[in-house]
Amino acid sequence: VDPERRRELGAWYTPPALVDAVVAATLHEWRPPRDRAVRVLDPACGDGRFLLATARALAAQGFAVRLVGVDIDANAVASATRALAGLDAVVVRADALDRAGDTTGHVAARFDLVVGNPPFLSPLAARNARVASSSPSGAPYADAATQFLLLAWDLLEPAGGRVGLVLPQSVLANRDAGVARSTIAASGALRWLWWSPEPVFDAAVRTCALVAERGGLGTAVRRALGPAFAAVRPAPSPGAVWGALVADLGGVPEPGALALDGTLGDHATASAGFRDEFYGVAAAVSDGCDGPPLVTSGLIDPGVSRWGDREVRVAKRRYQAPRVDLAALTPQVRRWAERQLVPKVLVASQTKVIEAVADPAGVLLPGVPVVSVMPRAATTEELWRIAAALTNPVASAWLARTAGGSGLSANTFRVAASSLMALPWPAGSLDDAAARLRVGDVPATGRAGLEAYGVDPDSERGRSLFTWWIAAAPRRGGRVSDR
Ligand SMILES: C[S@@+](CC[C@H](N)C(=O)[O-])C[C@H]1O[C@@H](n2cnc3c(N)ncnc32)[C@H](O)[C@@H]1O
Repeated sequence: VDPERRRELGAWYTPPALVDAVVAATLHEWRPPRDRAVRVLDPACGDGRFLLATARALAAQGFAVRLVGVDIDANAVASATRALAGLDAVVVRADALDRAGDTTGHVAARFDLVVGNPPFLSPLAARNARVASSSPSGAPYADAATQFLLLAWDLLEPAGGRVGLVLPQSVLANRDAGVARSTIAASGALRWLWWSPEPVFDAAVRTCALVAERGGLGTAVRRALGPAFAAVRPAPSPGAVWGALVADLGGVPEPGALALDGTLGDHATASAGFRDEFYGVAAAVSDGCDGPPLVTSGLIDPGVSRWGDREVRVAKRRYQAPRVDLAALTPQVRRWAERQLVPKVLVASQTKVIEAVADPAGVLLPGVPVVSVMPRAATTEELWRIAAALTNPVASAWLARTAGGSGLSANTFRVAASSLMALPWPAGSLDDAAARLRVGDVPATGRAGLEAYGVDPDSERGRSLFTWWIAAAPRRGGRVSDR
């Protein structure tokens, strides 16, 4: 298969150690049906390795199997057919997601187990648009892997069927996979999660693996970590918030019981530019021109903008003090830019803790995908309260747990406008925290912010939240580059 096509299909093979770990976790404490063969499906079976490993593990326990492999690729179908020769197995060439075109009946049956490593097409891949139109989720941008997870769930025996899949790590936190998380939480439970802070094999994206049981009750989730699949302490049942399963492995503390009053969305709106704004602005940036300073994520540290003292890259070019020539923008991007030049709080997009900086004068232009948080009440006091709410150990721990797994590296998370709006707002006053932030005292802002959430900064919980937050906050002269 040529490399381009390999990439398109995500068709690397799964390392045997990962296949074995997923199969073992899928069968762990599972009770196979006694009166008939165990029905096993791999809807993207490649050379059949998951099916073979499952058949062997079940045979070792004295159970018979009936295997079904599906793959869209003729070579894969031929290899799987060879690998499974002599077993009770059928391998069909088909697009597993195309249920409308299911002429072989492969997606009509019910299965006790669904295993495998489905392709992870990017949500923007052109081919995916077609796949999505027949998607079980109906979510147009859900990636193919999420759709395979939903397909698997749909095909499982409702009482005790299990799915064990290798998936992109984004399934843990991305909004588009939310439908899969809530479907599983509503009609079953996660049983096992494997996650690795470092990449383990040649996949274009970071991966995880999970086992979930239909009809299962939410109990503790067993977890394995890293290339050695080391067992780590089980996590409490996460419901539909799966990010917490990896965030706590990265040291993010549990915020515990909080005094809350609504969400940040009650106080502000949040938005970020897209591709058009990114490229439109990139074409009008320079170091010398007249115009608003461009503040990228790399220039935002908690409570402070490093614009002018830290070099940045925008669309691969380096700048010392980038400004945007508004006159050089297209009318559409210029309108967007002008809407940004109001009092707001700018929030970095990819971080270990929330990094937010207030722009009370409304003079800074956010570099895409920096999130602009604009107060609903246009007062300076409210703006600083919002900045203080974001410069807070509780808010950071809450977001890190919700969005765990969404970042490009192990311990970072992606800050999306929608998740910021859902951030819990404290019941206590943020005025003290806001006053500290106005004078640039970030540690004192964090301590006062803990109190606003009803957390005593000197309690064990307060200290653990504060220590984690301060240690994860970037230091002066830290990161320099941005997209
Ligand atoms: C990442 S590979 C995994 C193969 C094998 N399960 C393994 O673990 O080594 C993904 C497989 O999915 C197949 N595939 C891609 N899109 C598919 C679709 N819509 N329906 C069925 N199979 C598909 C590819 O041909 C490829 O063999």
